[in-house]
Amino acid sequence: MTLERIWDAHRSGATPAELEPLAGTARELFYLAVLADDRAAAAALAARAAKLDPDSAVYAETARYLARPAADDPYEDPEPFTAFATGGGNVGLYRNTHEVLRSVYAELGSVRLLDIGTGEGHALLPALTPEVVEVDVVEPSAARLARVAAELERRGITHRAHTRTVQEFTAQASSLSWDLVQDTFALLALTRAERVELFKWLRPRTKQLALVEFDVPDLGSGRDPRRFEHLVDRYEQGIREYHDTRELVAQRFLVPVLLGTLAEDDGPAHTEQPIAHWLEDLASAGFTPLEPRWVFDYWWAPAHLIRAT
Ligand SMILES: C[S@@+](CC[C@H](N)C(=O)[O-])C[C@H]1O[C@@H](n2cnc3c(N)ncnc32)[C@H](O)[C@@H]1O
Repeated sequence: MTLERIWDAHRSGATPAELEPLAGTARELFYLAVLADDRAAAAALAARAAKLDPDSAVYAETARYLARPAADDPYEDPEPFTAFATGGGNVGLYRNTHEVLRSVYAELGSVRLLDIGTGEGHALLPALTPEVVEVDVVEPSAARLARVAAELERRGITHRAHTRTVQEFTAQASSLSWDLVQDTFALLALTRAERVELFKWLRPRTKQLALVEFDVPDLGSGRDPRRFEHLVDRYEQGIREYHDTRELVAQRFLVPVLLGTLAEDDGPAHTEQPIAHWLEDLASAGFTPLEPRWVFDYWWAPAHLIRAT
């Protein structure tokens, strides 16, 4: 039975238990696990998939995860997230991100910078060079922003820290302007329409934009077979990048994020998109996008630097 036929039967009301005898491959069994509403049934199906394909990290880790009671929001727990963010492909991703940002600062000379969605400053802080003379940071998480502000203070860099979403920031900020506005992996939290509005707001207020974002194919939402296969293949690669910390990262971050992403039947929480759409959105807001520059082949998707003037 193909995944498409399982999906059609599921949408017609067939239960995973009814479909299980027809599932011949590990991938099909794992698909039924993802479609199952009941955690115990999902755990049993994932365990069968893992047994049939013992080389798959994603099947094994998901089976173990589902065999335990459901956990809290994986983003709330700093320990697994830190292990994730500072290991695996994130090391190369951030190293290359710092390099491309530095090259932009060097080209511009003297930079008054706005960084949107700064987080804990993993991208911003190591990239800063003496060319950056002033920094505005916008980040809704007070705890994360406090760390960034403390470090900017320690380095004696003139800065303003805005503890709010970028939507709140643009509704209140006013006469500020910058040489460069940058974002690294944060604008995916906005809808596409919100992003275009943001670009329009920024157009008269900055000389240039530099975004580092992932080139993510348009996959729709929910658990249809194409999206399921894409996510499982990507997360297989992602989990394999962690060795000593695999238990922590897979069980407390990557597997719950994968299952949460697959459960987004009403549309994805993160509105990622192909790089071509970023360029269209910038152009529709009045920017002139430059040729995107490859940054890193991350397990989730390739990252690119998108500049626009
Ligand atoms: C994946 S993290 C990236 C953080 C940082 N830019 C980096 O590269 O390490 C995304 C960040 O965007 C922030 N964020 C989420 N929604 C936001 C919004 N509406 N406006 C501004 N920042 C937002 C989150 O709090 C989080 O710190």
